[in-house]
Amino acid sequence: APNMAVDLGGIQMSNPVNTAAGTYGFGWQFEGFYDVSTLGAITTKGCAAEPWPGNPAPRMCDVTSGVMNSVGLQNPGVRGLVAEAGEYLAGLSEKGCQVICQVAGHSVDEYVAAVELFEELAPWAAGLEINISCPNIAAGGCAMGSTPEGAAEVVRAVRPRTSRPLLVKMAPARVVDVARALEAEGADALSVINSIPAMAIDVHTRRSKLSRPTGGLSGPVLHNIAVRMVWEVAQAVDIPINGVGGVASGEDAAEFILAGATAVSVGSANLFDPECAPRILAELEEWVASQGVDDVNELIGAFECQ
Ligand code: DOR
Repeated sequence: APNMAVDLGGIQMSNPVNTAAGTYGFGWQFEGFYDVSTLGAITTKGCAAEPWPGNPAPRMCDVTSGVMNSVGLQNPGVRGLVAEAGEYLAGLSEKGCQVICQVAGHSVDEYVAAVELFEELAPWAAGLEINISCPNIAAGGCAMGSTPEGAAEVVRAVRPRTSRPLLVKMAPARVVDVARALEAEGADALSVINSIPAMAIDVHTRRSKLSRPTGGLSGPVLHNIAVRMVWEVAQAVDIPINGVGGVASGEDAAEFILAGATAVSVGSANLFDPECAPRILAELEEWVASQGVDDVNELIGAFECQ
């Protein structure tokens, strides 16, 4: 079998397949379906320093080839996460599956406060993923992640507060400029990309299909947009990339790796098929072997650009 181990900015993963935040709860919810520790990493649902209620229902709907959501980062706060899942997540990391904790905030100060709580309460976390790209909150999120200046401001503030690997979940906007700014501020890796701001209208009621006028679009409809963004970012920076967007098969994951991703997140697909992540990993491993190499790392960025 080929070597599948990769290094995502200091996070040593047994394989590139990990789960995207928000579609995977805190991980334990999937234990009834398969052994979660076989994945390279999981990313826990974004948490802020204090609990957030999120947006009212309806906050999820199907659209052609994708999913729309307006969850608004409902979360129990860092203390709530640790109380609910700390023991489970510590055990998972002992079994060799890395735990990445996603961090949410409405402001620079809130991001800093959440990072400080993770530092204090989550010694088992292999890395932190700063979410500066949620399309469903008025401040923070996309508002900060869509410009190089806003993105840089967040990472400049949190970088000195942790020595753990820092990932940043990027918005699908100005990705090359934002990625360069994040690298300059000391980000260790980039998750490319979050859902795309979008809208869906119920033509009978003339209302949004969600509780807000807009939401975030994810799933297969997003995949090839994300592949192009990963490829552009990979050429612009020297830090590793985690490809995120519409991965539902080993081939989808392989596309990200060829475009320059070191690791690959599975997001919306978890909602449709809770057993998909280990299948995607098995398919990816088969593809690596089919390429006549004995190490997945040889295929990172191996896209033949004519
Ligand atoms: O699509 C998304 N929805 N992306 C995020 O970063 C957060 C999430 C939510 O909770 O709204």
